[in-house]
Amino acid sequence: MSALPKAAHTDGEAVMSARNVAKFFGSVRALNGVNFDIHRGQVTTLFGENGAGKSTLMKILAGIQPPTSGEIILDGEPVRFSSSTEARNRGISIIHQELSLAPNLSVRDNIFMGREIRTATGVNFAEEARLTKALMEELEEDIDPMTLVEDLRLGQQQIVEIARALSVNSRILIMDEPTSALSATEVEVLFKVIRDLKSRGVSIVYISHHLEEALQITDHAVVLRDGNMTAKAPRSEIDLEWIVRNMVGDNFDLGSPPTGYEFGDVALSIDDVVVTEASGANVVDHMSLQVRAGEIVCIYGLMGAGRTELLEAVAGRGELMNGKVLLEGEDVSGATIAERIAKGLSLVPEDRQRDGLVQTMTVGKNLSLASIGAFVKGCFTSPQRERELVDESIRRVTVKTAGGGAAIGSLSGGNQQKVVIGKMLATNPKVLLLDEPSRGIDIGAKAEVFRLIAERARQGLAVIYSTSEVGECLSVAHRIIVMARGKISAEFGPDVSKEQIMAASGESVVE
Ligand SMILES: Nc1ncnc2c1ncn2[C@@H]1O[C@H](COP(=O)(O)OP(=O)(O)OP(=O)(O)O)[C@@H](O)[C@H]1O
Ligand SMILES: [Mg+2]
Repeated sequence: MSALPKAAHTDGEAVMSARNVAKFFGSVRALNGVNFDIHRGQVTTLFGENGAGKSTLMKILAGIQPPTSGEIILDGEPVRFSSSTEARNRGISIIHQELSLAPNLSVRDNIFMGREIRTATGVNFAEEARLTKALMEELEEDIDPMTLVEDLRLGQQQIVEIARALSVNSRILIMDEPTSALSATEVEVLFKVIRDLKSRGVSIVYISHHLEEALQITDHAVVLRDGNMTAKAPRSEIDLEWIVRNMVGDNFDLGSPPTGYEFGDVALSIDDVVVTEASGANVVDHMSLQVRAGEIVCIYGLMGAGRTELLEAVAGRGELMNGKVLLEGEDVSGATIAERIAKGLSLVPEDRQRDGLVQTMTVGKNLSLASIGAFVKGCFTSPQRERELVDESIRRVTVKTAGGGAAIGSLSGGNQQKVVIGKMLATNPKVLLLDEPSRGIDIGAKAEVFRLIAERARQGLAVIYSTSEVGECLSVAHRIIVMARGKISAEFGPDVSKEQIMAASGESVVE
């Protein structure tokens, strides 16, 4: 990529730019001479595969990490931030891909942490609560400011993360995967907020692996590939195909469900299961479902339909108020999570940060944690076998990492998600439950995950795949169950249309 003319920042177009920015983490080159402009009062969208360097570039612009070399220009002047506070004081804020909230604090305290509204005598908590309430109203989310963040579902936590960035009234707002856990309605509200911010002159950088969704809000598209900026164009000149081609190359296809073999016996039987939430309401309301060996069943539903609660209860994380879970005919309703994993029932959870990974451990330890039994010889674990299995897992799920010894925190968000999937596959399950597994993973990795699932299904693995992306069901499932308000509202074969599935979930069809 040739260097942009020096005067580019004076044409009124770019409010902030990266000039020839490189970033190394030890010997890993995350960014290589990147030139990037944030367009004033518009939405600049950054596309790229997992590990392409998107978050790294954003962290540099937001003062969280310094570049190894290159320049950051703000309002025509070079700047060098030594902290995110400094960047924030210049009007730049960031919504992080990995939520950075304190779970045991209230929504209000999370939003104003480190920026408390002071009076002569202390903190003006009432004013903070009032502003929090106003932000929640703007985001059309019914959350009390005093609710503890740990009591919110993942999507609501993401809303709080967004609210915190909005509360700063920045003129440059960076959104790194802000919608990965949001429902379709929540995304619509966020887009309304983004349009409103634009009309007030706020410049936005938007990152997402939901390509269709991102296109709706994009004014300028930029593609990063392996740390290099490989393409950029205004919205009027691009379409979905342009993005995919520039991200991963030509002839790309998410594939279709595996065919040409017979399903085996019933592997998992969910029998009249009820899960009750604290309020007493049934989030899972007398659900029954059977999955045969080799069969891939997709559960589609909106956020809050009860999918996560169902899968967690089946995996042994939540309590059953009624009903039974049978694994190959054996009642496992009373078994612990570990016992169920040992018997062949594994869950890839929705919230990888909270449930899926141990952030203080290496990639290798995280991969082998759930299948530790496989490495135990007598009473000693075998480091040799553990290393072999870790290397195989890294290869199988195409994790981009320096190796099994790397810290899990050094992986890009999407690659962390792949580690969770690899970890559960390494337990050699008979039944695999996947709760929104493609959240935050790029289209190439998604195809890779589908291929892995298909291959295992052929060998007899029974799969339940939960998603809020209709397209995924059609690419992966033999049977599609639509769930709404804790119940099955419809069931389809693989030949159903997107519109039919969405209509059955109670969703309005937007194209
Ligand atoms: N703190 C770190 N230490 C070591 N390597 C890092 C660190 N942060 C990022 N990297 C590496 O830099 C590269 C770019 O990562 P980055 O998080 O920017 O990717 P990304 O485009 O945001 O991907 P994703 O879509 O998965 O979020 C990856 O190879 C990643 O492993
Ligand atoms: Mg990222």
